[in-house]
Amino acid sequence: MKKEFTFSYRHLKSIDELTDDQKKVFAAAEKACKKAYAPYSKFKVGAALLLNDDTLVLGSNQENKAYPAGLCAERVALFSYGAQHNTQGIKILAITSNGSMLKNDQFFSPCGGCRQVMAEYASMQEAPYEILIKNEDGSFLIFESIYNLLPFTFGTK
Ligand code: THU
Repeated sequence: MKKEFTFSYRHLKSIDELTDDQKKVFAAAEKACKKAYAPYSKFKVGAALLLNDDTLVLGSNQENKAYPAGLCAERVALFSYGAQHNTQGIKILAITSNGSMLKNDQFFSPCGGCRQVMAEYASMQEAPYEILIKNEDGSFLIFESIYNLLPFTFGTK
C-alpha cells in the first residue's frame, strides 16, 4: 500500500512579517553568525535559541583542521542550552547563514545530524519549538516543529 507523508511550513517574504519574538531571535542568530569559525568551508552559520523565559542562547559553526571534529551552529547552540540551561524550554530556534555555498534561489536546510539533535531537545519539553530559517534572498521559512523537517524521527516523539 502506498502512503504519503505531508508537511507544512510558512514562507515569509521579508523580515517585516516576523513577530517581535522572531525578530529578536533572528537578530541573535545574525550576531552569532559573526562568531562562526569557518576558515575551511568559508560558510558561516549562526543559530540562536529563544527560551521560554526570554533568555537567548547563541551558537555558530566551529570548524577544525581535522574536519570531522568541527560542529554545526545548531548543535553548538542546542548543546550549550543542554549544558547550561535546559529547564526553561525552547520557544524558537533561528538559523542564518553567510557565504557563497548557497545560490540566491536556494533555501538553507539544516543537516540531518542537527535535525536529529533538534528532535531530541524537542522531545524533552511539552510544546514543540518553532524553527525559523533565513534564506539567501532575505525571505524566511518557518516550521512549527522539527517533526515537519524530520519524518520518521529515530527514537523520539
Ligand atoms: N553547517 C552548519 O553549521 N549547520 C548545518 O545545518 C549545515 C552545515 C556548517 C558545517 C560547516 O562548518 C559548514 O556549515 C559547511 O558545511
